[in-house]
Amino acid sequence: MTAPLPHVPSGATAAYLPALRADVVRGLTAVPKSLPPKWLYDGRGSDLFEQITRLPEYYATRTEQALLTQISADIAAHTGARSLIEMGSGSSHKTRSLLDGLARTVTTYVPVDVSGDALGPAAAAIATAYPKVEVRPREADFTDPLHLDGLDGPRLVMLLGGTIGNLLPDDRDRFLRSLASQLTPYDRLLVGVHLVTDPQVITAAYNDAAGVTAAFNAGILHRINRELDADFDPEAFAHVACWDADNEWIEMRLRARRAQTVYLGDPGVVVRFAAGEDLLTEVSAKFRPERLAAEADAAGLELQMFWTDPDNLVALALIAPALRTAPAS
Ligand code: AVJ
Repeated sequence: MTAPLPHVPSGATAAYLPALRADVVRGLTAVPKSLPPKWLYDGRGSDLFEQITRLPEYYATRTEQALLTQISADIAAHTGARSLIEMGSGSSHKTRSLLDGLARTVTTYVPVDVSGDALGPAAAAIATAYPKVEVRPREADFTDPLHLDGLDGPRLVMLLGGTIGNLLPDDRDRFLRSLASQLTPYDRLLVGVHLVTDPQVITAAYNDAAGVTAAFNAGILHRINRELDADFDPEAFAHVACWDADNEWIEMRLRARRAQTVYLGDPGVVVRFAAGEDLLTEVSAKFRPERLAAEADAAGLELQMFWTDPDNLVALALIAPALRTAPAS
């Protein structure tokens, strides 16, 4: 069963428009300039991201997929989940291994994604392939409050694909705490992260030879032109992806090829770029196991299981609410 989808067309009537406008004005008038990466995922951006996942350089998706297939029975044994909630579900391709593994217990699948265009077809495909599972799609930012009530436990909340790495450390902390506050002792989180590995391998994954990542990055300018009536010349910006060794994250930027002035028609704001000035469009953090464990701990969570692929490129962590024993009196 699929609940009727509140289909929100991209464009002037979209409910997210005030948030997009506010984020764009704030980000483009800040020093240095930046935009939240979630706005990369309009319909076209979600399609381009799907293409990225199949690139030879982009090792993360296929590696995580293989790992998930391998451990799905383990996950089922550890969780016995009845509800599966997936944040940033995108195409829901990887979800299938989980639904197969959880076949005996799962009754409800809740895909959550900012892209309504990606959510509708993905939810419909899952509903067709798994007729016994109730599919309840939600168009939302995965950092919005979750509202798990009404979903049968045990619940398994998944955030795959390294998406948690797109949050900056403070936002990650807030996000994990808010998740922790909503979990019962029987609920679990399954988080997929990209591991710290050879910087050249990481950098190549964001600088593919076919230029798909460059198109994905520039897509945010096309979106601002269309939805905020702006006059960006996307050709006037170069795609840059570079490894930040101190923070252990990759940064995706759009670098102005020349000095230029951009007009945002909708809010009526003028934005100036100097030649060579960067607009930060995404941070994608890579993790060491100890760092993930420490961040979970700080949020009142604990790693229960930690699986990696043979090359240590990605990891899947099964995370539980921490059981604190009462201090001895
Ligand atoms: C959405 C987190 C999986 O950070 O690797 C891919 C998005 N950006 N190429 C990532 C992305 C550029 C991606 N995730």
